Amino acid sequence: MCRAPAPRARLAVEGRLLLGATRALKHHCQAGAVLRHQRWFPPAATSLVQQICERIFVIARVTREADDDGLVFFHAREISSFPPMDTTPAYPTLRIVSHPLIQHKLTMLRDRGTPTKIFRELVDEIAMLMAYEATSDLVVEPAPVDTPLEPTVGRRVSGKKLTLVPILRAGLGMVEGIYRLVPGARIGHIGLYRNHDTLEPVDYYFKVPGDAAERDFFLLDPMLATGGSAVAAVSSLKRAGATRIRFLCLVAAPEGVTRVANAHPDVTVYCAALDRGLNEQGYIMPGLGDAGDRLFGTR
Ligand code: PRP
Ligand code: URA
Repeated sequence: MCRAPAPRARLAVEGRLLLGATRALKHHCQAGAVLRHQRWFPPAATSLVQQICERIFVIARVTREADDDGLVFFHAREISSFPPMDTTPAYPTLRIVSHPLIQHKLTMLRDRGTPTKIFRELVDEIAMLMAYEATSDLVVEPAPVDTPLEPTVGRRVSGKKLTLVPILRAGLGMVEGIYRLVPGARIGHIGLYRNHDTLEPVDYYFKVPGDAAERDFFLLDPMLATGGSAVAAVSSLKRAGATRIRFLCLVAAPEGVTRVANAHPDVTVYCAALDRGLNEQGYIMPGLGDAGDRLFGTR
């Protein structure tokens, strides 16, 4: 797979040539690594190079050309039908996490025949996978560490411990999965239930760690329906001093997303699916039914 050095290489990118690679290229390499080898690009190429790094995963081939030039071919990654996170202009605060595993598990979750035990396991697993995406922009800081061989500098999430806050009851089903990813997290609780007639939230419990202003909060509830519970929960957190809040749910209705965005435009909502809307009883359609009942086997 390796080729002889190409003392001067040109980069052929989607039919275009970027001039100026002066360092020798010795191997087939991952594109990002190849680009890091290239020290001399015209300044105008910088943004193109950044786009290339985002879109490409293999491979650079270096061949000898006449004299001292080489060509590096980049193979664009196939665009998956499941990008990791979708955004939509109609809902600027919403991120739909459309990873194939999440979508697969969500379909099993919706199935009316899925028993309680499997339902709980699926909620747990989906929450963990979603948390992986929802934590992707956390701020990191340098962290010195001694490996068995030498000291080096890694990175760690900066700031105070993350705080998970399930909305009782159904949010409890999302805690353990995320806690496995973030074992140092603190856990608060917000007790709310929907009045069946008015569909408005009734609150009965609130407990979160102190120094809320310095923490990142992950508010957890599988269902975002009218949005009343989510808006009330975010308001409670803000009254306690929280300023950085994300809302993680599994299934969202457009009505709920809009209500949260209007009341709390600073809160990003992550969901696995944006469903069609609400029925007359305030259930999400097609949804998955009553999340609390299905999690805890009550009906
Ligand atoms: C469900 C769900 C949310 C809420 C969403 O809880 O877990 O908390 O409804 O509806 P909303 O967006 O219209 O407010 P529920 O009120 O059924 O309470 P439970 O978890 O105790 O069953
Ligand atoms: N709460 C649920 O558990 N399911 C819905 O569809 C709406 C609210």
